[in-house]
Amino acid sequence: MAHVDNDEGTRRDFLYYATAGAGAVTAGAAVWPLVNQMNPSADVKALASIRVDVSGVEPGTQLTVKWLGKPVFIRRRTQAEIDDARSVSLEELTIDAESQNANKPGTDAADENRAMDDAGEWLVMIGVCTHLGCVPLGDAGDFGGWFCPCHGSHYDTSGRIRKGPAPENLPVPVARFEGTELVLG
Ligand code: FES
Repeated sequence: MAHVDNDEGTRRDFLYYATAGAGAVTAGAAVWPLVNQMNPSADVKALASIRVDVSGVEPGTQLTVKWLGKPVFIRRRTQAEIDDARSVSLEELTIDAESQNANKPGTDAADENRAMDDAGEWLVMIGVCTHLGCVPLGDAGDFGGWFCPCHGSHYDTSGRIRKGPAPENLPVPVARFEGTELVLG
């Protein structure tokens, strides 16, 4: 329930990643040479693109990494979570019917338009509640996805807002897989 602007909260999120032992984050190889030459914006450049090794993430768990100052949830979903997300009709998505996927702009919120892969195993989202910016909890809420305890927003297993004050689905950032690495940005 930490606000993203809260130092303690972001530090805790990062520690979660650091102790999870499930993956490794490295800055994009092409980024570092630039960083050395461009001191004023070194921080920004270093964070603009990161690579995350997700080979250690087990089904039913998620890795949280910090990217551009925000937590990013990288969830490897179980078949039950995928089935749950894909059994929802578009008519049920009354709060936000947009995919909110930066990789597929303009598409509807069908789970197929939000997951990273066709099988739907990987779901990657900015882990910031679209209401007022708290970090939602995983494996929680009335829809088995994420729950934001700040004001009671419930997201389903596709990260779509289903109940509560949040106005939009959790956004999917620009991302792609390269082998077992997820490249953010
Ligand atoms: S910040 Fe998440 S419900 Fe208000």
